[in-house]
Amino acid sequence: MNDALPASMPPTGEGSFRRVVEWAPTAMVMVDRKGRIVLINAQAERVFGYPRQELLGQSVEKLIPGHLSTHHPAYREGFFADPHPRPMGSGRDLYARHRDGSEFPVEIGLNPIETDDGVMVLASIVDITERHRAQQKLERALNEKTALLNEVHHRVKNNLQVVSSLLNLQASHTSDARLKSVLAESQNRLRAMALTHQLLYEGKDYSRIDLGEYLDRLAQLLLGSYREDSVRISLRTVMPTGPLSLDLERAVPCGLIVTELVTNAFKHAFVGGRSGEVRIELHAVADALELVVADDGVGLPAGFDLENVKSLGLQLVPLLAEQLGGDFSLGSGPGARFALRFPSMPSSRRAS
Ligand SMILES: Nc1ncnc2c1ncn2[C@@H]1O[C@H](COP(=O)(O)OP(=O)(O)OP(=O)(O)O)[C@@H](O)[C@H]1O
Ligand SMILES: [Mg+2]
Repeated sequence: MNDALPASMPPTGEGSFRRVVEWAPTAMVMVDRKGRIVLINAQAERVFGYPRQELLGQSVEKLIPGHLSTHHPAYREGFFADPHPRPMGSGRDLYARHRDGSEFPVEIGLNPIETDDGVMVLASIVDITERHRAQQKLERALNEKTALLNEVHHRVKNNLQVVSSLLNLQASHTSDARLKSVLAESQNRLRAMALTHQLLYEGKDYSRIDLGEYLDRLAQLLLGSYREDSVRISLRTVMPTGPLSLDLERAVPCGLIVTELVTNAFKHAFVGGRSGEVRIELHAVADALELVVADDGVGLPAGFDLENVKSLGLQLVPLLAEQLGGDFSLGSGPGARFALRFPSMPSSRRAS
């Protein structure tokens, strides 16, 4: 609106200028250097609830809420020191005062106008009460949804923990060592999944988690479940310095792969009281991520063939790697070394 107004009195004279202002659809108030109202249009009368006779010659501060009017003369001086068209108070929430004393949110554009009596400022004022209300409603709705999402992730995590506790209970009812270890491994898988949900509600982003933080915390969890071995076997994580975020859909298989490989290292690499180290490394390589789980234990059995594994763990890992759109490979020793390379961005939204 302001841009359409001339920066000086139009050649057709003051009469037509007054008519343009009078019938403008936004409220307009022209103020002189001393802050006195010299012109007000019909819409401004409606917006502020004053007949114009009550405002002409009065201080413009009459239209500004008390708590905001103290600084107004200084702002006005600033405008007249460098008069050019601009929005008023950018970055601040502006409010105006109605005749009945109520306050309402406004947006104000300022335009310098050259007149015979010197430069004046023509303010066009838009009442944004409705927009404010709609925005507040949206913010409330968004807050509710955020709380709900938090709650859902919290419940998923708790439910997984309940299942994990049930397995624990089952394990305590058997004296079969092999069954105990199978149940403990399943518990670790559940914990790895529960942790992704925990990180989602702990963080601010509900679709992605920081993979480095996830793997660090997963390592702590796994170490906790091999407490008695942790004296001779250490577990170290080598993570990138910056954050590397991953979507939930791929964070889960990633966590399950690490769980399988670290479990294997604790189970098979340090037999006969051997001591050593297990390492989880994450590297960003070009547009891919490389995840390595390595140990300095006894190494894989002679003739080990990843393609023909009969046990569940290492059959599961290539399937999970496929879900990530990645390649899973064996590295060379000493010890065992498994590497998984997958694109840092999902190739496309998978159908299922
Ligand atoms: N880090 C390792 N060091 C030495 N040997 C390993 C290592 N990881 C795996 N292996 C060998 O590979 C075999 C297959 O591993 P896999 O995880 O498939 O089976 P598992 O751990 O025996 O049983 P599960 O199905 O419960 O995982 C193991 O039985 C073990 O002999
Ligand atoms: Mg295994």
